[in-house]
Amino acid sequence: MQKRKRIITFGTFDLFHLGHVRLLVRAAQLGDHLTVGVSSDAFSQRKKGRRPIYNERERMEIVASCKPVDECFFEESMEKKRDYIVNYGADILVMGDDWVGKFDNFSDICQVVYLPRTTGVSTTELLDGIAHARQASA
Ligand code: CTP
Repeated sequence: MQKRKRIITFGTFDLFHLGHVRLLVRAAQLGDHLTVGVSSDAFSQRKKGRRPIYNERERMEIVASCKPVDECFFEESMEKKRDYIVNYGADILVMGDDWVGKFDNFSDICQVVYLPRTTGVSTTELLDGIAHARQASA
């Protein structure tokens, strides 16, 4: 019998949008089980230099409710990534191609796949768009 393939991916998933949906759908299609590491508020603040709009419990609840997602956990730091990959038994690490090359060091323990990002949408662009719309209507 063929071994079930386990996928893992990571992200903040703030202001959940179509780029996030498509990343999760495509990641899940690469295997049989998808685990998502949702960045904690503290980690996301360190990584992106701003506090997420939705707090970590809200972001976790949204991601966990997505059909392609089998399980979620809070990602606390970049340094623990190797442990997460091992502990969740991941065969494939999937990230969007804004991370290309950044996780190649894990190719000794799993396959590393970078998927093309969905164009024209990101949390940053949404925040900028909202700020502009508010300014225009003030
Ligand atoms: N992603 C994607 N397509 C997009 C936006 C994000 O495929 N248009 C992917 C990222 O490459 C990553 C995952 O979704 O693998 C989570 O991304 P995240 O950083 O949470 O979202 P962004 O919209 O990129 O956030 P920001 O603008 O704050 O960097």
